[in-house]
Amino acid sequence: MKIPKLQLQDGYEIPALGFGTYTLNGHEGVKIMSQAIEQGYRMLDSAFNYENEGAVGQAVRLSDVPRDEFFITSKLPGRRQRYEQAVQTIEESLFRAQLNYYDLYLIHWPNPKQGLFVEAWQALIDAQKKGQIKSIGVSNFLPEHIETLKKETGVLPVINQVELHPFFNQEKQRAYDQSQGIITMAWSPLGRASDVLTHPVLQQIAQEVGYSVPQIILRWQVQLGVIPIPKSASHQNQIANQEVFDFSLNDNAMQRINTLTKADGRLKNQDPAIYEEF
Ligand SMILES: NC(=O)c1ccc[n+]([C@@H]2O[C@H](COP(=O)([O-])OP(=O)(O)OC[C@H]3O[C@@H](n4cnc5c(N)ncnc54)[C@H](OP(=O)(O)O)[C@@H]3O)[C@@H](O)[C@H]2O)c1
Repeated sequence: MKIPKLQLQDGYEIPALGFGTYTLNGHEGVKIMSQAIEQGYRMLDSAFNYENEGAVGQAVRLSDVPRDEFFITSKLPGRRQRYEQAVQTIEESLFRAQLNYYDLYLIHWPNPKQGLFVEAWQALIDAQKKGQIKSIGVSNFLPEHIETLKKETGVLPVINQVELHPFFNQEKQRAYDQSQGIITMAWSPLGRASDVLTHPVLQQIAQEVGYSVPQIILRWQVQLGVIPIPKSASHQNQIANQEVFDFSLNDNAMQRINTLTKADGRLKNQDPAIYEEF
């Protein structure tokens, strides 16, 4: 199965569907990622804090797929946002994965109270110049944080990876990202398999369309112009999640899903204006 690609504003291409790797660690993690690669996934989403950059790198090396067909992402943790620490951490991330470059590297959380994300961004810009990272982006950034990056450095991220699922659809953030040419990426796109998967409206649409609720959700995200990165340890679910390119949702179904969002719909109330992660 072939996953289509989208164009980033820095000129690189990115798969329209990725593979989440949070909690996929060690030998078992490598096995699951290798299976996903065999199924056609090319974008693997890792982070320094997931402690699985090594497993991701190993899965890449074990596969027959050439390196330049992969799209490997990692993220800078909050505790490493000082410029020198960020520079070192990017090098450590590469070392752990035994890769020469990342396709995408993100600032994991803005941590606005800490007030160091501009320094961190400068380190990503410099790492990009050194060829250690192809594309640079952010995660969990609100418009105000991106405006600060723009004002202080003149360099915009190409991706903003945020919590996004039917209970928290990020309408305003998506509109802002789009206005800046930034592609929004969805973390926990399936709401971490919580009660979102049993919502009656989604079940009804699933029945109408003839695909499962997770497939409906991922297709809704694709049609919103968002890149979902579902994590699945299950062979069957890995395949099912790629079938979203086999069908489409009509406007009516899209609108019904759009109404499910709630102001307090975040899974763990992690509002980036307040919540900080290190
Ligand atoms: N930037 C950030 O701050 C941030 C935060 C959280 C997550 N992330 C990234 O986003 C990725 C995805 O988010 P997530 O792992 O939190 O949650 P998720 O992808 O929304 O949900 C994962 C859960 O959904 C289940 N699932 C997957 N496909 C399914 C299907 N077709 N049918 C039924 N169940 C299915 C999985 O079970 P099985 O394994 O059994 O299939 C797993 O329990 C992470 O792995 C990580 O890479 C980033």
